[in-house]
Amino acid sequence: MAPAKKATDVYFTLNNGNKIPALGLGTVPSDDPADVKDQVVTAIKAGFRLIDTAWYYGTEKYVGEAIKQVIAEGIVKREDLFITTKVWPSFWHNPEKSLDQSLETLGLDYVDLLLQHWPICLHGDENGQPTQPKDEEGNLKYDDDPATGTKFIDVYHTLEDILDNTSKTKAIGVSNYSIPKLKQLLPKIKKHVPAANQIEYHPQLPQQDLVDLCTEHKIIVECYSPVGGPGAPVLKLPLVQELAKKYDTSVNEIVDAYQILNGRVALPRSSNLQRIASITGLPELTKEELDELYQIGAKNPTRYTNDPWGYGIGFRWWQGDDKSKSFE
Ligand SMILES: NC(=O)c1ccc[n+]([C@@H]2O[C@H](COP(=O)([O-])OP(=O)(O)OC[C@H]3O[C@@H](n4cnc5c(N)ncnc54)[C@H](OP(=O)(O)O)[C@@H]3O)[C@@H](O)[C@H]2O)c1
Repeated sequence: MAPAKKATDVYFTLNNGNKIPALGLGTVPSDDPADVKDQVVTAIKAGFRLIDTAWYYGTEKYVGEAIKQVIAEGIVKREDLFITTKVWPSFWHNPEKSLDQSLETLGLDYVDLLLQHWPICLHGDENGQPTQPKDEEGNLKYDDDPATGTKFIDVYHTLEDILDNTSKTKAIGVSNYSIPKLKQLLPKIKKHVPAANQIEYHPQLPQQDLVDLCTEHKIIVECYSPVGGPGAPVLKLPLVQELAKKYDTSVNEIVDAYQILNGRVALPRSSNLQRIASITGLPELTKEELDELYQIGAKNPTRYTNDPWGYGIGFRWWQGDDKSKSFE
């Protein structure tokens, strides 16, 4: 029998008291960004309430159109939804302008969560362009050294000001914060501890020490790439397949349950509408099974996101990153 429990019924409480759904739909486009509209409509009709987007993804327009449609059809009200967007590091010098652009593109008055996308400062113009500034040798151009700079903390302070002085977001948080970056930020916070830290997370990359630090400070962990991104490598793990068979469910629901049953938000994405509509079940994995899944990555950690803008920010197992050695 397929899972009787629904992942879409589970909510966690953020450190500001607001509720966050445990399952959200990611909106990085796999091909045409316009396809995201149907993906979001399908997800909301299937019970998803959290939609994760970003200024950088180029999909906010289609997320906005989808929201408008489901509200017009009477499926949800705005307050039933939890919308996240993010400030990209080339817009680091003006997060409020970035948020204003996001809100306008989304057609919304507020988001539920505004994240600092990365703890780095890239050299963008007054509109955050280009998003991946490069020098003549093709290296990323920074306004602050990614390993030693502290301007990323100023960016977080600006997010705090937006939260305090406007009604444009209900909560603020961070993304891609490693242990060293969180430890630099936490003592400098003015008032608002990040509500969430969105990081790559799946059974092959458990990062328990980072999760423990987040838990200690009541920071919800949001898991991106829950199946390991394109090619879905995590779904090929024999244990994941075995559990899917045992619980008569999909491999996707097994890896999302691994996060949700451990108190973390899972953020899958798919260009396949049928898949989106069919991944809302919550198989009730046992404690032993959750631990077995954990052991896969604890023994042999594998990271699938190895973008060059992640170099120097203190993560382990980041292929090509020689700059984080200073944190070891
Ligand atoms: N904060 C950050 O820096 C950051 C970074 C990365 C991602 N994110 C967020 O997290 C979301 C999810 O991350 P992700 O995009 O890396 O996603 P993911 O959910 O780990 O991977 C999605 C990919 O897996 C494929 N897939 C899923 N189920 C499959 C199955 N059963 N069989 C075969 N292929 C399958 C999908 O193909 P189909 O399209 O064919 O289903 C798609 O190509 C993003 O959309 C974004 O919102 C945030």
